[in-house]
Amino acid sequence: MESQVAERAARLGFESRAGIDPRCVPIKLVRPMPEGEAIPSRRYTAEENETWRILYGRQRKLLECRACEEFLEGLEIMGFPEDRIPALTDVHRKLKQTTNWGIALAPGLLAVEDFYGALARRVFASTDYIRGRDELDYTPAPDCFHDIFGHTTLITEPYFANFYQKFGQVAMHAEGKIRGWLASFYWFTVEFGLINTPHGIRIYGNGILSSYSEVTHCLGAEVRRLPFDPQRMAEQPSDLSIMQPILFVIDSFQQLESDFDRWTKGLGL
Ligand SMILES: [Fe+2]
Repeated sequence: MESQVAERAARLGFESRAGIDPRCVPIKLVRPMPEGEAIPSRRYTAEENETWRILYGRQRKLLECRACEEFLEGLEIMGFPEDRIPALTDVHRKLKQTTNWGIALAPGLLAVEDFYGALARRVFASTDYIRGRDELDYTPAPDCFHDIFGHTTLITEPYFANFYQKFGQVAMHAEGKIRGWLASFYWFTVEFGLINTPHGIRIYGNGILSSYSEVTHCLGAEVRRLPFDPQRMAEQPSDLSIMQPILFVIDSFQQLESDFDRWTKGLGL
């Protein structure tokens, strides 16, 4: 997997620093990412497609009564194949039709300025490689199952789509303490967010949606679930190496968009 990512980055002309696992080293773009119809198609091996089939089948079933309706409806809209990795150009076309978002091909984990800059333009930077078969339950950095199955699906929800763009617009210019606060806010919403529904608390954060163990953990008794409070979330420490002990619950995606707006305006952003 290391050499696959490094090779891909080199072929696309990106700079990547050497490290223990290049998937965890943020890549600073040296030229624009291919976007939309310009994304080169990629051929996947039978094993890679089988990895998608296993992950898709397992999460789809697990999320049936645990993910929010907006996510499950998003899966219907996106219509991903169950047995093979979707082409990013197809994902791009679906998002264009629904919330006017687009897809760019990311060579790996992007430097935050590049990732936020794309969000600010209503473009989601997605990887196109999939985790190894030995990493079905955990992978240390995004892969295309995490990016496509989780992130692009929720972008079909109009309020979330607008919030996500506003987040990019605000975060790409933030510095110092505020930048850290925004990263924490992102963690507790986009990656680990929960939502109140008439059927109980459901999941919308993709760090949970795309992880088998986080799905079963997040709704259990050992997790403290607190009401949505942007400043509290911004200052709440988080640890990537453990199952999340504290999560925050929004009431709606409309609330996420409007309260984020109010909070960041209050910070002078
Ligand atoms: Fe993510």
